[in-house]
Amino acid sequence: MVRSLPPVIAIDGPSASGKGTVAKTVARALGFHYLDSGALYRLVALVALEAGLNIENELTIYDIALKLNAKFEDDAVHLEGRDVTDAIRSEAVSATASAVAALPTVRRALLERQRAFRKPPGLVADGRDMGSAVFPDAVLKVFLTATPEERARRRYKQLMEKGLSANMAALLQDIQERDARDSARAVAPLQKCADAVEIDTTAMAAAAAALQVVARYRQASRAP
Ligand code: DC
Repeated sequence: MVRSLPPVIAIDGPSASGKGTVAKTVARALGFHYLDSGALYRLVALVALEAGLNIENELTIYDIALKLNAKFEDDAVHLEGRDVTDAIRSEAVSATASAVAALPTVRRALLERQRAFRKPPGLVADGRDMGSAVFPDAVLKVFLTATPEERARRRYKQLMEKGLSANMAALLQDIQERDARDSARAVAPLQKCADAVEIDTTAMAAAAAALQVVARYRQASRAP
């Protein structure tokens, strides 16, 4: 008898497209596990930064990725028992994570770790290459988009809610530059898989986008 693997829903999209919120909402609605793959790259970046390594130390960074002792609990992330939920969201870690994610050896080191999140009754996997490299057999692949202006507005609102200052024009420029960099890079570029469903969330709340994903999943898992 062939034992089938638990179903995976892969969700990708540019930064501030709302993929994290949508993916978490879908996981909760279906009672599925949730993988924030970006957090793994962020953890590798944090360890590398704290060890004073730079991106040229590829072998050492590869070793960090292999040995990462991380634990995900609800919305918290622990590294070697230390709560690093906020630390992995800093600007320095974001920049280093982007560089670390461009190292093919690091991507390889994290492959099996990501696949280990696939457990019954299913998994919602959020991140760049979820549908193309990590879970190519995902039952549903979603690519979330929104206009750069709307994504900048969402980022602005998030920063305001945290009591931080922000500038709309600078945020928009940052998003446009990041899109160009992410789409042009050689390793795991930002692009929609041929078999992914695109959902434009520009005029849609995260909850509505999540409902669409759940509906499409039910449709896809009923298909023969
Ligand atoms: O989604 P995020 O901002 O937390 O991701 C952190 C960095 O890692 C970002 O530069 C994109 C990259 N990343 C990746 O290359 N592959 C993934 N599966 C997830 C994130």
